[in-house]
Amino acid sequence: MLEIKDSVAVITGGSGGIGLALANYWVSKGGKVVLADIAEEALANAKKQLGGEVETMVCDVTREEDCGALADKAIEAFGKINLVAPFAGIIMDGLMLATDRETGKVKNKMALEKFQKVVDINLTGVFLTVRECAERMVNNGCKGLVCLISSTGSLGTAGQINYASTKAAMSVMPKVITAEFFRRGLSGNIRCAAVAPGYVGTPMVKNMNQKALDKILNDVPIGRLIEPEEVVSLVAEIYRNEALAGDTYFIHGGLRLGSRG
Ligand SMILES: NC(=O)c1ccc[n+]([C@@H]2O[C@H](COP(=O)([O-])OP(=O)(O)OC[C@H]3O[C@@H](n4cnc5c(N)ncnc54)[C@H](O)[C@@H]3O)[C@@H](O)[C@H]2O)c1
Repeated sequence: MLEIKDSVAVITGGSGGIGLALANYWVSKGGKVVLADIAEEALANAKKQLGGEVETMVCDVTREEDCGALADKAIEAFGKINLVAPFAGIIMDGLMLATDRETGKVKNKMALEKFQKVVDINLTGVFLTVRECAERMVNNGCKGLVCLISSTGSLGTAGQINYASTKAAMSVMPKVITAEFFRRGLSGNIRCAAVAPGYVGTPMVKNMNQKALDKILNDVPIGRLIEPEEVVSLVAEIYRNEALAGDTYFIHGGLRLGSRG
C-alpha cells in the first residue's frame, strides 16, 4: 500500500471542482501538491485556501511546452512525482446534426472548432500532461499512479459526441499505458488507472439548466449528485492500493448506464 504523506501530486484543472477537492485531500493527508490551471485568479485563490506545501502554475494543457514546464516544476520543487491527475477538462455539448422539427432537414451541424477544442483539452492535453510527468517519474525512479478521469459519458450520451469520445479514450489509455510499462519493466513502479464519475456537483454540472439537471437526477438511484469528495476518496484508494491497475473504476450512484448516460 502506498502512503499519501510526503508524496507529490500534480493536478491539472486544479483551481476548482474535482481537482481542487483532490488537492485539499492530498494536503490534509500530509501530501504535497503542484496545482495547474489556465484560470490564474482561481489558482491563486486555491493556493491561499489550501495552505500546506502547494506550488501553482498557470498552464494550458494544450501547449506542449507548458506541460513540460509543469513536470519540471514538480521535480524542482519537490524532487519527485507520485500522482499525476490530469483533470483539466471542458464540455461543449451539441448535436452533431440538428434537424428542423417541421421539415426534417438538417438546420445546424456541430462546428469543427467545437469538436476540436474539446479534443485538444480533454484528450491531447491529457496525453501531453501524462507523457511529460511520466517521463520525469521514470527518469527519477518515482513510484506512483497516473489517474485519468473518464466519465459515464464515455458509454455514449446524446449531445456529447466531442466529450464522450474523449472520455472513451480515457477508459482505454490505462490499458495501453499499463501494457507499455509492463513491456519495459516499469509497471511495478508506475500504475495507470481511471475513475469514471457520473454527475458530480461541481460548477461544470451545477451551471446546467435546472430542468435538465432534475431530469438527470431522476435516473440516479441515490437521488443526488456525486460529491467531489466521493470521487477523491476513490482516487485516493486507487493510489494506496497497488493491486488496482490498468482499469477504469465507475462511481455514479447507480446511474442508469447506456445511451442516456
Ligand atoms: N463534474 C462532473 O460531473 C464530471 C463527471 C465526469 C468526469 N468529469 C471530469 O472531471 C474533470 C474535472 O471536472 P470538474 O467537474 O471539476 O470541472 P471544472 O470545470 O470545475 O474544472 C475543470 C478545470 O479545468 C480547467 N481548464 C480548462 N481548460 C484548461 C486548459 N486548457 N488547461 C488547463 N486547465 C484548463 C478549468 O479552468 C477548470 O478549473 C474533467 O475532466 C471532467 O470532464 C466531471
